[in-house]
Amino acid sequence: MTPLYEPQAFIDGRWIDAADGRRFAINDPADGSHVADVADCGADDADAAIAAASAALPGWRARTAADRAQLLHRWHALIIDNIDALAELLTREMGKPLAEAAGEIRYGASFIQWFAEEARRSYGETIPSPWPSARIVTTRQPVGVVAAITPWNFPVAMVTRKAAPALAAGCTMVLKPAEDTPLSSLALAELAHRAGIPAGVFNVVPTARAALVGDRLLDSADVRKISFTGSTETGRKLLARAAATVKRASMELGGNAPFIVFDDADLEAAVEGAIASKYRNAGQTCVCANRFLVQHGIHDRFVARLIERTRELKVGPGTAPDTAIGPLINQRAIEKVEALLGASVDAGAQIALGGARHVRGELFFEPTVVTDVTAAMPLWSDEIFGPVASILRFDTEAEAVALANATPFGLAAYFYTADLGRAWRVGEALEFGMVGINEGMLSTEVAPFGGLKQSGYGREGSSHGLNEYLDIKYMLMGGLAPKGDVA
Ligand code: SIN
Repeated sequence: MTPLYEPQAFIDGRWIDAADGRRFAINDPADGSHVADVADCGADDADAAIAAASAALPGWRARTAADRAQLLHRWHALIIDNIDALAELLTREMGKPLAEAAGEIRYGASFIQWFAEEARRSYGETIPSPWPSARIVTTRQPVGVVAAITPWNFPVAMVTRKAAPALAAGCTMVLKPAEDTPLSSLALAELAHRAGIPAGVFNVVPTARAALVGDRLLDSADVRKISFTGSTETGRKLLARAAATVKRASMELGGNAPFIVFDDADLEAAVEGAIASKYRNAGQTCVCANRFLVQHGIHDRFVARLIERTRELKVGPGTAPDTAIGPLINQRAIEKVEALLGASVDAGAQIALGGARHVRGELFFEPTVVTDVTAAMPLWSDEIFGPVASILRFDTEAEAVALANATPFGLAAYFYTADLGRAWRVGEALEFGMVGINEGMLSTEVAPFGGLKQSGYGREGSSHGLNEYLDIKYMLMGGLAPKGDVA
């Protein structure tokens, strides 16, 4: 059978090695085994990809929206047809359980289907003219060549959430996938090619020299937009660099999601929401619950039940059928979890469950519950990105809202209550781009995903997602008065 990817760059519809022949290794985080040696692209390869995307742009943007939509529908169908192979690849390079990997591929594919549909609805507008002899219309046109820089925690979905709207809008793309997980994006490129998406429209440059390739993409005046998902710290640097060529930017950056449980909440629903929100992808998502705020009256019952349910989560390699929690992505990730936990325990936090590396291997961490956390502790202020639930006890609604908002981040927030008035009050008061009310998971292709404050700007998914890749053009058509009349 034709392989789903080659361990190379995909530029201008062809598989090629890095110009200087360098390669880097991808290892399975579950056991350290070698998965592939991939082309380690450098500045010349980034230039070649930008040139290919620029050359493909006029042809791609000139196609009808319906034509682009048809190719995207084919891409979507091929991804679904290959879901098992893609899930296996994703689990090997990233570690998440196979069922979660398949879920991610369905989630990722849903963006392609959604934006194939949205491509046909990229409407302009007419505006009442202040002049009798003139008319005003606006159209929306593709931004141009887009650079996408994507993270390792969703190696498929974070690529399609950017590529699908970009391609639907008529843009072409150069993608730099995360160093830990380039293989899934190469497989996506192969399937895009098989779907008939023309050479140069979707280019992938894997690299372990992120700064070299990233700088090239940001410095090029031919690249008109940067779309980034990753840390706030990196996002700031990219934005500063993109300023020189005044690129458009979408930034999906770090979060520090509060998960508030009020006394009147349905306990079982809150615990199930907490399990889903906290432990999805072993806690490695930017919308994972990072801080639990639990009201005095329900606190002890919530903690007891959360511990019971957390104890049931099976830790193991993603390929084992009953695994709920796979390995963390790399040594840096696990060391960060240990450091945040250690410093918080030194400051008085209590470990109620777990708290150490798991016997399964060096990148596995025990699902952990920590109580007596305070807002002064590192577990509270930093994004944990690991399977650690840190819990603070509060008394009043006002206190919970103030604590939840006291962060520079504003991506996702969650709360549980049975009181309708409180649902509106707290929902409106939380300074976050997304709020789950009595729900612990809110990601879907039909709703706008994105943050406030230092969690970034721009929206992915939904009808808003397409606008990120379209420029508005205002056209004034004058001289419409009959000849001889005064306008
Ligand atoms: C992310 O972690 O950046 C994305 C999570 C999601 O789409 O649910």
